[in-house]
Amino acid sequence: MSAEFEVSLESRAVRPDPAYLETSALGPWKQAYRRYLDDPDGFWAQYAGELEWIEPWDRVKEWEYPYARWFVNGKLNITTNCLDRHAAGERRNKVALIWRGEEEGVERVLTYRQLHRQVMRFAGALKNLGVGRGDVVCIYMPLVPEQIVAILACARIGAVHSVVYGGFGAGALNARIRDAGAKIVVTADVGYRRGTRVPLKTIVGEAVRNAPSIEKVIVLRRTVPHVALHPEMEIDFQECMAAAPSHVDPEVMDAEDPLFILYTSGTTGPPKGIVHTCGGYMVGTYYTAKYIFDLKENDVYWCTADPGWITGHSYIIYGPLAAGATVLITETVPDYPDPGIWWRVIEDFGVTVFYTAPTAVRMFMKYGDEWPARSVLDSLRVIGSVGEPLNPEAFEWYHQVIGQSRCPVLDTWWQTETGMHMLATLVGEPMKPGFVGRPIPGVSAEVVDREGNPVPPGTGGLLVLTEPWPAMMRTVYKNDERYRKYWHTIDGVYLAGDLAVKDEDGYIMVLGRADDIIIVAGHNLGTAEVESALVAHEAVAEAAVIGIPDPVKGQAVKAFVILKVGYAPSEKLKTDLIYHVRMSIGPIAMPSEVAFVPSLPKTRSGKIMRRVLKAQEMGVDPGDISTLED
Ligand code: PRX
Repeated sequence: MSAEFEVSLESRAVRPDPAYLETSALGPWKQAYRRYLDDPDGFWAQYAGELEWIEPWDRVKEWEYPYARWFVNGKLNITTNCLDRHAAGERRNKVALIWRGEEEGVERVLTYRQLHRQVMRFAGALKNLGVGRGDVVCIYMPLVPEQIVAILACARIGAVHSVVYGGFGAGALNARIRDAGAKIVVTADVGYRRGTRVPLKTIVGEAVRNAPSIEKVIVLRRTVPHVALHPEMEIDFQECMAAAPSHVDPEVMDAEDPLFILYTSGTTGPPKGIVHTCGGYMVGTYYTAKYIFDLKENDVYWCTADPGWITGHSYIIYGPLAAGATVLITETVPDYPDPGIWWRVIEDFGVTVFYTAPTAVRMFMKYGDEWPARSVLDSLRVIGSVGEPLNPEAFEWYHQVIGQSRCPVLDTWWQTETGMHMLATLVGEPMKPGFVGRPIPGVSAEVVDREGNPVPPGTGGLLVLTEPWPAMMRTVYKNDERYRKYWHTIDGVYLAGDLAVKDEDGYIMVLGRADDIIIVAGHNLGTAEVESALVAHEAVAEAAVIGIPDPVKGQAVKAFVILKVGYAPSEKLKTDLIYHVRMSIGPIAMPSEVAFVPSLPKTRSGKIMRRVLKAQEMGVDPGDISTLED
């Protein structure tokens, strides 16, 4: 795709109630951004200084392109800031977590003190199993408080967590366990989804079969009577907690020690294990949770993501808890038992800050205004969006129907790799439908051509980040080459892989990926992972997948398949292939269309040219095809 093109910038600015700006902790964007520009290190030191450190840092940052170290020689434990700090003080009895199950009336509430105690217990349980500093623990759980307890318990003892979304299948789980060399898997017998049970433990059983690094599987048993456990391999979550010490001191971590690995899709090859570290990530997520959402002491904050994604890591767990917020989590899906469920949850718990994805907004638009109209949404103060472009129609609906033309829509652009918000329209600033907003104070971003030269307003280009930031990934696990590629493709800057355009006011509109990554309902899918799942099927010789437009999910997967000799195209085979991908990667990767083809467009060096397939599909000009084989 060509890097430069013209984009219409027409957008009607929406001005929020001035009261938002008056009460905002960060103040107007212009002043806060100036403060950052005048003294970048001082800016970050200020926010880092609001947190507890075991030993202070010597220097705010060391930048040896493309490697950054933040809060150099600082010592900390992130759980001290997410838990001890609150549990020892005035927030002791403040609600940290509200969990709502799928069934009406199934709820649990944990205060900061309770969450602190449970995390220490589970940390002790992990220690009893011989898990220590630097060991990798894979967490494959449904969205229950124990998932968050397990994640924080790893951080408490310096173990590196690798959370795998509970919607992934055995193949995807196995690949992630093996790449990270995980020692333990923490799971549950089942997750609940639309009234059915997802057999997580069974999936784990399959995934660990050829994963020799795994020593034990810890199982949270939710169903009664309890399922049987494998005597050597599996242990009960509650039992190992009960046998553990009640107090576990936080491990003293260096600011640059790894905190977690989280896999994200790459353009080519297997998923990448993005590595985040303790100090910079803590400061970045704390600052953005507190100041970009502009959290107030009495807020009830609900982010609808799963902790299995970066959004959950940063904005369900670490950021909001470091900021001492009350966080709502729920196992419910948006339209079960009916599309009114989320609005009832908002009314029920008095949610004030709501953070969701455009795909959910578009789905609710489709169901109609009558669903939200049945609930009282007056508690809402700020409504956020993340994961893909919030198109102007979805913005208008979200703002008017959910935000009742009163709440600012906080669109936030960022990535697994960035760890924290990068672009946003600060609460209280004018919003422009279709535009995410400007770089947040603390972040430097630009839209450039292929050589890295900024392009003028109205000209599309590549979105890059031009300065290091505290929560940036430090490497790709066991593959630093892939890390360097982000910073070396265009010399001197971080290439995000998105196409974007800027307007005269510096507002940035993100247009989508510039590469082969497909974003389905806000979930990042690498073409390579889906294609290798297809090729693993006995009937498939070769496969290529592309994203095609979908009115609700943003994009859907379309697969082009060459069959092996001896296999004939049929509807049954299509269904089989779709099911095969579902079992291997999970429902999010399921192709919505499968086409059987005799050949695929390739470059002379044998690379599949997905953009040619895509152009064909959309009926547009495929652009430069000089490298096409024939
Ligand atoms: O293409 C951008 C899109 O999601 C990608 C990052 O995906 P992931 O690492 O899974 O993280 C998602 C949650 C942070 C980006 O490269 N994206 C994310 N937020 C937005 C967005 N596109 C447009 N607008 C956004 N607000």
